Amino acid sequence: MRIRLSTPINRLTTLTCASILAVTTSTAVLAQQAILEGERFHPEVSEKGMVATSHFLASKVARDVLAQGGNAVDAAVTAGFALAVTQPRSGNIGGGGFMLVSDEKSGEVVAIDYREKAPSAAFETMFQNDEGEAVSELSRYTHNASGVPGTVAGLAMALEKYGTLSLADALAPAIRLAEDGFALPQRFVDGIRDTRDRLEPWPGSRKKFFKEDGSLYQVGDIFKQPDLAATLTRIAEQGSREFYEGKTAELITAQMEKNGGLMTMEDLANYEPAIREPSHGTYRGHDVYAMSPPSSGGVHIVQMLNILEEYDIAEMGFNSANTIHVMAEAMKRAYADRSEYLGDTDFVEVPLEGLTSKEYAKELRQQISMDKATPSSEIAPGNPLPYESNETTHFSIADGNGMAVSNTYTINFSYGSGIVVEGAGFLLNNEMDDFSAKPGVPNAYGLLGGEANKVEPNKRMLSSMTPTIVKKDGKNFLVTGSPGGSRIITTTLQVLMNVIDHDMNIQTAVSVPRIHHQWLPDEIRIEQGISPDTIELLESLGHTVSRQEAMGAAQSLMIEDSIFTGGADPRRSTSSAMGL
Ligand code: GLY
Repeated sequence: MRIRLSTPINRLTTLTCASILAVTTSTAVLAQQAILEGERFHPEVSEKGMVATSHFLASKVARDVLAQGGNAVDAAVTAGFALAVTQPRSGNIGGGGFMLVSDEKSGEVVAIDYREKAPSAAFETMFQNDEGEAVSELSRYTHNASGVPGTVAGLAMALEKYGTLSLADALAPAIRLAEDGFALPQRFVDGIRDTRDRLEPWPGSRKKFFKEDGSLYQVGDIFKQPDLAATLTRIAEQGSREFYEGKTAELITAQMEKNGGLMTMEDLANYEPAIREPSHGTYRGHDVYAMSPPSSGGVHIVQMLNILEEYDIAEMGFNSANTIHVMAEAMKRAYADRSEYLGDTDFVEVPLEGLTSKEYAKELRQQISMDKATPSSEIAPGNPLPYESNETTHFSIADGNGMAVSNTYTINFSYGSGIVVEGAGFLLNNEMDDFSAKPGVPNAYGLLGGEANKVEPNKRMLSSMTPTIVKKDGKNFLVTGSPGGSRIITTTLQVLMNVIDHDMNIQTAVSVPRIHHQWLPDEIRIEQGISPDTIELLESLGHTVSRQEAMGAAQSLMIEDSIFTGGADPRRSTSSAMGL
């Protein structure tokens, strides 16, 4: 018998039963491993804490922080900065995101919103031509594609409120990786080659991503980032406000002025993250916490779970035609509502209680037939009244003292706008494309947005990011989330259902094939691995089924009986879960 054993050094270490006896491993871990015997996918296992990120170097530095006595927030902030160095396609300091922190001791789950904001000179028609048509080039590949970045302020706030490390200590591994460099993996090299056309026009991007003679780096080359190292060092020495008011802010605005960008020193100085209450729902006795607006993720994951809860999903079976049918029907209805109601709650009223109520879910469920797909053309945004008065990357981290962090952050597209700030060494986001350039015209993910998400000065653009923490009996149970644009919410939904409905271990839950429906276009998008018979059955119900490339990268973890299990999503070759 061969058992995969968690070690701090190499997660792929496998040992025979005999050699395990010679290793100091607790009975609890061995018991858990015994339970996992016979399964095809094996999670990382640990008793003391777990880190799951999309890059092994970020996982390693975060795990080191836990090993040295840091808490989950310390490790998360360290991972966030390290990913900005090792995975510049989505790890960032030029973008924004959302972090959920759950502290079992206080019972509190808080959401830190560090989403980018539109500059103060932004205006509703800024991405339209003279004929009033939306021009996606403007909202994606220009200096005005960038919202005011929130990552540095957001990570610093998390550390200050919930961490124990200094900002300088949390930045130290990232600075070291940027200064000393690291050997490039295949994925990095392929990413730059595939994005060459977008990066090459900009002097800062040429300097950062290509050799001096303009040629491409190769696998195994040591990649150093001196400008980024200098920026991170300034932040470490002067604090997070340096990014917003110091030399880094000057470099950003100099670049804006040179290229017709609207972002000013004042916009940067005025940027502040916000603490928000997460969206909350229940699913089969579990408490589900996920990101509230300006992300649509939490609202719609709760809405879909509410619709699905009354079906016997376990009995219907994993990825059976019936299960996929009801999931797709729930997804369509949620995404239709997203197009109408969701936006930045600092600017527009969003009927949050209505959308996440069990009563509204019942109303939507009654529209679903088991015999026939409802064409999207027959689904309009519902009426969830009353209004109350009133390429992204994800990582999951938990420590041994009851604290868990779920963090998703992004610069929107892979490599964002493609524009590296000259002299500062980091990419600017193209998050302004997440606004509705013109209500009713789809964004890059085919998502429709309404008036609620139109461009306004200082407003946060609507997101789909869904960092999620599920609690069971008051204890952290599942920490998950994903990149993937419009597919983020449905990817996260399926990890959660795979664990709760289908009783999968976390590695299986993140590995198995996924599906997606977003109302428009009216098709179920499926990954490889859904059987032809199932597709035929779905088509006989009236669904259009479209086989597409892999969706999401749900770096996730679970905690059961004080045992931590980590699942690294195989859809990314650099994904890594590391136990303590
Ligand atoms: N930029 C993708 C999202 O925030 O949903």
